[in-house]
Amino acid sequence: MKQQLNQIKADVVSALENISSKAELESFRVEFLGKKGRLTQVLRGMGGLSPEERPVVGQLANEVRSFIETEIERMGEKLEKELLEKRLVEERIDVTIPGTRKKLGKRHPITTVLDEIKDIFIGMGFQIAEGPEIEGEYYNFKALNMPEGHPARDVQDTFYITEDVVLRTQTSTVQARVMESQKPPIRIIAPGRVYRSDAVDATHSPLFHQIEGLVVDKGVTMADLKGTLEVFCKRLYGEDKKFRFRPHYFPFTEPSCELDISCPACNGKGCRVCKGEGWIELLGAGMVHPKVLEMSGIDSTIYSGFAFGIGLERTVMRRYEIDDLRLFFENNLKFLKQF
Ligand code: DAH
Repeated sequence: MKQQLNQIKADVVSALENISSKAELESFRVEFLGKKGRLTQVLRGMGGLSPEERPVVGQLANEVRSFIETEIERMGEKLEKELLEKRLVEERIDVTIPGTRKKLGKRHPITTVLDEIKDIFIGMGFQIAEGPEIEGEYYNFKALNMPEGHPARDVQDTFYITEDVVLRTQTSTVQARVMESQKPPIRIIAPGRVYRSDAVDATHSPLFHQIEGLVVDKGVTMADLKGTLEVFCKRLYGEDKKFRFRPHYFPFTEPSCELDISCPACNGKGCRVCKGEGWIELLGAGMVHPKVLEMSGIDSTIYSGFAFGIGLERTVMRRYEIDDLRLFFENNLKFLKQF
């Protein structure tokens, strides 16, 4: 029996060499220590030993058992460590690999220029006003001195929702709304979307943006209009540019004018951009018609005012030398990335 036990010990040592996984270690344990394992089987034969031999063999058997148990534990720890090392190598993170960059969007050129324009006017004491895009026919036309049948209505191809509800064709609608709800002094700009039933081409879109301006106070004159708009244009286009005011007609202002800038492409000599005129139109403006003041509840014998309307797309096109208005609405990254 002693021999058998020593054989088991020798077999344990050689069997251990071949173990490389936890499953193998478990079947090793069953083979030697299990209920039908080799050590158990040897111990079963203990009954046939003499009383002198029994304690000696018993001690040896215990030694072999604890030897096996220690080896199993040692082996278990070794396998655990190997597994951990393997995982550490496999799951290693290389912090030097370049990351995947998130693409940062940019502001649309329309927004950039609008913010700049807002800043210029806020710097001159203006406030920002808003009005609805779906608007009563009253605010879009009547309150602006364009009664039914007025020929000026024809120029603005309107989207009618019902007979007296329209998509606003101009931000001038905000003029009447502000005058109805605020007392002078009034100094506002009202940027926003406007709509006209125009076919799309390089200079037309059924949706575009305007910036309306309105100043109402005691003693406001054409000189205020001129001074304010000149400061605005010089800030936006550069101090060196030349501007001119030219008489024009709008139903809601009297007198009315348009403001031109000397053509930046040819410096006023005349070219394709300015159609040979040397000047490019920037905006419409005028002294608020007394009828418009009165309709909105402002006493025109005490107060006077001026108003202006700027086309935002046109302004941005001029600023960045963009020759097709459709580019603003196409979401083409090749175009948008340039700003
Ligand atoms: N509403 C005009 C348009 O869409 C632009 C305009 C002209 C606005 C003169 C004004 C103004 O306030 O005084 O054509």
